[in-house]
Amino acid sequence: MVFTLRKKRTTPAIRKYIGESQKSVPKLARELGLSESTVRKWRKRAEGYEENRRARPSRTSFTPDQQALIVEIRRSMLLSLDDLLAVVRMFIQPSCSRSSLDRLLRRHGVCRIADLVPDPEEHRRVLREYKSYLPGFMRVHERTLPRVQHEEFRKHLFMAVDRSSGWLFLEAREDGSPEEAAAFLRDLSDGAPFHLRRILTADRPLFRPAEEDPDPFGLACEELGVEHVTYPARTQESHQPLPDHAGTTASQPSSFASSEEIEKKLLAHAHVYNNHIPLMTMGRLTPVEKLARFHEAHPDLFKRHPGELAAYPDQEKYLFYQTKKEQPIIAGAEGIYMWDTRGKQYLDGCSGAVVNNIGHGNRRVIAAVERQSRQTFFAYRTQFENRPSQELARQLVEHSAPHLNRVFFVSGGSEAVESAMKVCRQYFFNLGEGSRYKFVSRVPAYHGSTLGALSLTSYAPLEVAFKPLVRDNPKIPAPTCYRCVYHKQYPDCELECAWALEKTVLEQGPDNIAAFVVEPVGGASTGALVPPDEYFGIIQHICRKYGIFLVLDEVMTGFGRTGKLFAYEHWGVQADVVALSKGIASGYYPLGAILTTDEIVDVVVRRGGFAHGHTYAGNPMACAVGQEVLRVIMEDKLPENADRMGKILLKGLNRLGRKHRFIGEVRGLGLLTALELVRDPQTREPFPPEWNAAMLLTDNAFADGLLIYPRRSINGLYGDHVLVAPPLIVREAQIAELLEKLDKALTRTADHLNALETTLAEERASGPTPATPYYR
Ligand SMILES: Cc1ncc(COP(=O)(O)O)c(C=O)c1O
Repeated sequence: MVFTLRKKRTTPAIRKYIGESQKSVPKLARELGLSESTVRKWRKRAEGYEENRRARPSRTSFTPDQQALIVEIRRSMLLSLDDLLAVVRMFIQPSCSRSSLDRLLRRHGVCRIADLVPDPEEHRRVLREYKSYLPGFMRVHERTLPRVQHEEFRKHLFMAVDRSSGWLFLEAREDGSPEEAAAFLRDLSDGAPFHLRRILTADRPLFRPAEEDPDPFGLACEELGVEHVTYPARTQESHQPLPDHAGTTASQPSSFASSEEIEKKLLAHAHVYNNHIPLMTMGRLTPVEKLARFHEAHPDLFKRHPGELAAYPDQEKYLFYQTKKEQPIIAGAEGIYMWDTRGKQYLDGCSGAVVNNIGHGNRRVIAAVERQSRQTFFAYRTQFENRPSQELARQLVEHSAPHLNRVFFVSGGSEAVESAMKVCRQYFFNLGEGSRYKFVSRVPAYHGSTLGALSLTSYAPLEVAFKPLVRDNPKIPAPTCYRCVYHKQYPDCELECAWALEKTVLEQGPDNIAAFVVEPVGGASTGALVPPDEYFGIIQHICRKYGIFLVLDEVMTGFGRTGKLFAYEHWGVQADVVALSKGIASGYYPLGAILTTDEIVDVVVRRGGFAHGHTYAGNPMACAVGQEVLRVIMEDKLPENADRMGKILLKGLNRLGRKHRFIGEVRGLGLLTALELVRDPQTREPFPPEWNAAMLLTDNAFADGLLIYPRRSINGLYGDHVLVAPPLIVREAQIAELLEKLDKALTRTADHLNALETTLAEERASGPTPATPYYR
C-alpha cells in the first residue's frame, strides 16, 4: 500500500489503516516509513477510539426507557419531528428541545420517516389497492414494550392506525400471543367509532399462523366481518423486543415505576395525538377532526360520532361532581336547543341552571367576545380601569331602580351574595355598630354554596357536613303556602310567615341584625315560589322599622326571568343591595355583581374602602359579554317575551297538572315555573325521598330530549319539584313542543311511580323489605 505523505506524517486514512491492520508494529513502521513509536501510538489510540465509539456515554438527559419509548412512537406512528416534540414535551420531558430530540432520532437511526415505512414498495401497492381510504381500514401491529426495573416481564403493545384519518387505538397486553391479538381486535372493534372493515398486518404467525395451527386472530376477523390483508414481514418488523440502548434499563434509574405506568403514558399519548395534533397528511386536521368530516359525508360508516370518543383515558376519574351517572358530551347549542356528540337534540327547558336567558349561540355576544379578545381578556382592577366594566356598571345603574347606583363586580352567584353580606356588615362596622353581624334568611332558600352564602341557604343535604364551619344565622319560614308551616290558608293567615321576620328580629335583638336576605321569587330550594302580593310590603316595612338592610338575591330572578328586568319591580320593593349573576352574562362568561346605594358605598369607601374583592372582579371580557347580553335583553324585549310566554307556559303546565294526578302544584312567574310532585294530591304527601321522583321525571324528559331542573322544596329533603325555565327567547310553538315532551315524560314517570307503588304494596304484604328505590 502506498501513501503520499504531505505536511502531516500521518493522515486519518493512515491512522485508520494502522488501527485496522493485523501486521506487527515494525512491519507497519517499515511499510509506512514511520517510526515504531508513531505506529504504536496510533494503534493504541485506535483501540481507545473503538472503545469510545462503542460505549460513548450518551449526553442526552432521556433515560434509556424514555429513549426506547420515543423511538417506538416514532417507528410506529411515523410522527413528524414537530408532532413528536409536542408529544414528548407533554408526556415525557417538558424541557425537551427540538434539537435534542432530533439528535436522539439520529442516534437511533429513525430520523428519516421514509426509511421507517416497512417495505415501501409493497406498502405503496397495498395503499394503491385501497386508495379510496375510508374510515375502517386499519393497520395493526405489535411490539414488545421495554422492561421496567423490578419487573420480570415485558408487556406487548398492540396498535391500530386508521388509514383514512390517522386515528390511533392502542392497548398494552400481557403477551404477544395470537389470543391476545384476537382480544385486541375485539376491543378495537368496540372502541372504534366506525365499523371496522379491513385490517392490514405484517404476515407474521401472530396474525396468520401456519395452516395446521389454531388461528384466533383469523376467527376474530371472521366473527367481526373484517377483511384481513397482510404484507410480507421484515425481520425488523418481527416480534423483537424494543432495543435497550446504551446499557440495560436495569442498570439505570428508570423513569417508569411499572409497565402500567408506561401503558398509561401511551394511552395519554394516544389521546393527545388523536385529539390535539393536527397532521400534515390530514390537511392539518387532528385524527378526530378528520373522522368528524368523514362522519358528515358517510354517517353509515360509523357506529357513533367520533366526538363521542372518550375524551381522555380514565377521564371519569379526574372530574368529580355530584352526579354519578354517565352524561353525554355537549357538541353545540343554538337558540333554545342543544346537541350532544351523538347528534341527539335537546330542548333546553331550564336554561341550564336557569342561566341562559338570551338563548345559546347568540351571534352578537360571540362578536362582542371576538372584539374584546382583540383588546384584552384581563387587566387587574388595581392597575387599570377598563371600558367594559365602566360601561356595564353604567348600563346596570341606568336600568335599575333610581336609588341603586353603585356596582361591584364578581364572578358568580355565591360571590355576589357574599359581597352583599360583606358590604352590609362593613357599613355597620364602619359606623361603629359592630354588633350587627347577623343575617336573617328563609327556610327553605338557596343563596349559594360557599361558607358565607351557605349560612343563608337552607337546603339540608348541602349543609350537613359543613355545619361546624358555618355561622348559625337566624331563619324564618318561606311563604310556602302549599305547605304552610302554620297550617293556615292565605289570606286568612294574615301572612304570619312575613311577620315572622319581626318576631325573629326582636328575638335576636334589632341591634344585632345587619340584613334580611331573600329571593324575590324562590328558585332552586322552593321551586319558583311566588310570595303573596302583600309579602314584600310587610318585609320592607319591618326592615325600615328596625334599620336593617333588605338584600334581594336576584341571582336567578334577574335579567328578565320573571317577566320584568328585575323581579323586585313586581312589588316595587326598594332593596338596599341586589345580588346578581346567572342571566347577567347568560352563561357566556362567569359574571356576577351587586347593585347598591350611594349611602352604603360612601360609608364603606370613606373609611378605608371595601375590604373585599376577587381577582376577576370587573374582568374586561366578562363585562364586555355582560354589556352585550344586557343590550340583547333590552333591545329584543326579552322581559316582555318572558311575561307573555310565561303566561302561556303556566297555562300549559296547569293543563298537565290536571292530567297527571301526581302533580301537586303548578307555580311560577314569567319563565320561572315549577311543578311540585306529590304521592297523594289530597294529603299533599311527598314521595319517599329514595324514589327520587323529580330525578326520575328529569331522566325521562332527558331521554325524550327535554332538559328540566330537579330539586326538593322541603329543605332539600322531601317535596320533589322540577323547574321549567326555558331561555327568554322561547316562542309559542316551542312552548308547545316543550309541553308535549314534558307530557310524555310525565306519563312515563307516572308508570314508573305506579310500578314502585305496586312493588311496595307487594313487599309490604310479604314482609318488611322496602321497595326498590330509584337511585340516580
Ligand atoms: C338565588 C341564588 N343565589 C345564589 C346562587 C349561587 O350561585 P352560584 O352557583 O353561581 O354560586 C344561586 C344558584 O343557583 C341561586 O339560585
